[in-house]
Amino acid sequence: MMGSFRLLLLIFFAFYLATNATKVTYDNRAIQIDGERKLIISGSIHYPRSTTEMWPSLFKKAKEGGLNAIETYVFWNAHEPLYRQYTFEGNLDLVKFIKAIQAEGLYAILRIGPYVCAEWNYGGFPVWLNNMQNITFRTQNDAFMNEMKIFTTKIVDMMKKNNLFASEGGPIIMAQIENEYGNVMGSYGDQGKSYINWCANFAESLDIGVPWIMCQQDDAPKSMINTCNGYYCDQFSPHDKSSPKLWTENWSGWYKDWGGKDPHRTPEDLAFSVGRFYQYGGTLQNYYMYHGGTNFGRVAGGPYITTSYDYDAPLDEYGNLNQPKYGHLKELHTHLMSMEKILTHGDVTNKDYGNWMSSTIYSYNGSRACFFGNANDKQDITIDFEGKKFTVPSWSVSILPDCVTEVYNTARVNTQTSVMEKRMPEGAVRGLHYNLNWAWRTERIEHLRCPVQYSGNLKGVTYAKGLIDQKVMTNDTSDYLYYMTSVYLNGNDPVWGEEVTLQVNCHCHVLHAFVNGRRIGSKWVKNGDFKFVFERNFVPRVGMNYITLLSVTVGLQNYGANFEKTPNGILGPVKLLAPSSIEKDLSNNGWAYKVGLNGMDERGLGSDPEFSRRRWYMNWPKNRIFTWYKTEFATPKGDDAVVLDLWGLGKGTAWVNGNNIGRYWPSFLSGDGCSSSCNYRGGYGASKCESNCGKPTQRWYHVPRSFLNKDCLNTLVLFEEFGGNPCLVSIKTVTNSKAHANAYEGSSLELSCQGKRVISNVNFASFGLPNGTFESLETSHCHASNTLSVLKEACTGQKSCSIDVSEKTFGSTGCKSSMQRLAVEVEC
Ligand code: GAL
Repeated sequence: MMGSFRLLLLIFFAFYLATNATKVTYDNRAIQIDGERKLIISGSIHYPRSTTEMWPSLFKKAKEGGLNAIETYVFWNAHEPLYRQYTFEGNLDLVKFIKAIQAEGLYAILRIGPYVCAEWNYGGFPVWLNNMQNITFRTQNDAFMNEMKIFTTKIVDMMKKNNLFASEGGPIIMAQIENEYGNVMGSYGDQGKSYINWCANFAESLDIGVPWIMCQQDDAPKSMINTCNGYYCDQFSPHDKSSPKLWTENWSGWYKDWGGKDPHRTPEDLAFSVGRFYQYGGTLQNYYMYHGGTNFGRVAGGPYITTSYDYDAPLDEYGNLNQPKYGHLKELHTHLMSMEKILTHGDVTNKDYGNWMSSTIYSYNGSRACFFGNANDKQDITIDFEGKKFTVPSWSVSILPDCVTEVYNTARVNTQTSVMEKRMPEGAVRGLHYNLNWAWRTERIEHLRCPVQYSGNLKGVTYAKGLIDQKVMTNDTSDYLYYMTSVYLNGNDPVWGEEVTLQVNCHCHVLHAFVNGRRIGSKWVKNGDFKFVFERNFVPRVGMNYITLLSVTVGLQNYGANFEKTPNGILGPVKLLAPSSIEKDLSNNGWAYKVGLNGMDERGLGSDPEFSRRRWYMNWPKNRIFTWYKTEFATPKGDDAVVLDLWGLGKGTAWVNGNNIGRYWPSFLSGDGCSSSCNYRGGYGASKCESNCGKPTQRWYHVPRSFLNKDCLNTLVLFEEFGGNPCLVSIKTVTNSKAHANAYEGSSLELSCQGKRVISNVNFASFGLPNGTFESLETSHCHASNTLSVLKEACTGQKSCSIDVSEKTFGSTGCKSSMQRLAVEVEC
């Protein structure tokens, strides 16, 4: 009886799967789902860069923003930090992430890699992998290929087991193997070529039932679709003519390094690149990133990638709408999707007008759709199209879904700008949200107290002859590694009695040096050269001298050919130089190694018994290096995102209730070179339109709401390495305080406040030809006098309101200009 019941269940299950399964194929035009060509508009959201609690709302906003797919990489070193010790918990729950994408009715694109680049620590590779015998990454190397196979198969099996590929009823319509290997393949010679062929064969053998892609791989084997990454991909064509034109990374902004400025890619330019891609036959594009998020813990790569991975993406680091980028693209997506059939099936006629001006007509079943593209970065151009004149602004694309009426132009932004402010939380209680009460204790700096050859017996200390790469020693379980040695100098030693120089040749990010228990100096990289020489003088004593070098990493290299071989730490030589030009080379001495800090465990909770015994002091000191700070704060009311304002601090790590918020470094100021204006016209590069010069590279650090206690206080712990001043630290919320917009006559303007806020006041509104910019707007002679009252009536007290921008709504302006627009400023 039981047996037949089980059989029935099985049959039902098989039937259920069969009916939900979708077939994903492709031809030279598009990806096809169940035989139908699809237009795909996708966005990258990396699961570990947000929290499980944030995922549903991110996907909902993505869908409302007009996306139909979400793309993610898979992060090997997050899942297998130590050899064969896997974790898929919390925000590493990949299955839950993909299911949440499906629940929102979106497709998923799974870029397994497992090399991912992604500004992620070590490009996603676990450091233990580098520490295996005879291994070289990303080439024809048995040890590497074997491990890549084991991990990739594990992920694929996990997806299959949960029926997550479209072929089994799941949302995953495509998967990627490797990542931009074509950019570095040349450095690997023939071995590189055979490796990429192996990748293709291996991927195929996994039989996932959906297409595989390879990005930036011009010679991808035929079973793989090769795709484009970059700021513009309209001129790309896949090398196999039977593949569609796909764009896996349209960089919506850029990432930030410590010392770097805030990148900004304008909505006009981003929309232009998308418009052109679909004009020229593209049928799938993905924003890299749609939501960048946060590099929590130690996941930032680099070296020197910041904790924020905001990326100037359409959804900001906290998941708020980055307006007007989000809305301007949303509008574009709506129009593109309305043309799906014709763009994926229509006959195409391109016309070149010269001067970088072109038109494309798609015709299908008696209907037509048109794009007018002006890639001239200086001139607006007017064309005569079938007897009618159309002016296309410089560096823009116009869309005419019926080839008669222009419904969208990439350079005309009709979406509001949301002003996001970091504020003291509502109802902040003095003493809990600012003027925090701090307790402190010092980090015990590790020093040898006996000759180095005996140090191997000390707790947690490893003894070795010579200098060893930091990755090998730490297995990347910490940023911190002590290198310690001892030198005996007798009274007759020629080096003794005078000031000597300690010289350290270092592949370090940060180095702190101590002699006989006292710090003699520190050095860190300010502008990109991670190989430096540290030199400081000291007077040695007669007898045993103890040298302690603390080397600190700030994210491991994630890009480039053979990047895994980039040396880290102190590889020498390490020398004592006497003025008499005598030198002692200590490089081949015995060295004692200790990994990590003494004061805290991984979760910043200090649960190590040795740690919890030590006392905290209340009268905290200022500007003291290697200090632990602890305080408590109340959870801000409401649902605005919460950030730590770490202004005044040096460098270190922050934990809230045991959650590692990431590395902080507000004392590292951004360089100069910001320009006061930002012209969206002309090719974009990451250094165009930067802001935040001369200010802390990153001042605010995201604390997701799910890290906070609802009803009791939260514990904030800081490890301060450089000696900042915590008295300026505060808890803030990210609040949408204002919105302002410019919308042209004929458009419809949507105004709204984010979160639970409503429009509390309309500060300014003028339809006509208003003068000035945000916060200094003025009416001119051309102004409809009813504008303000109409807006107040429609919007005050509302979460959002929608206004038709026309004389019908506001009355006559009395000037009849073709450039009439509505300028408005509201408070939230
Ligand atoms: C690409 C790479 C991505 C990311 C991006 C820059 O080359 O494929 O993973 O690193 O650059 O954000």
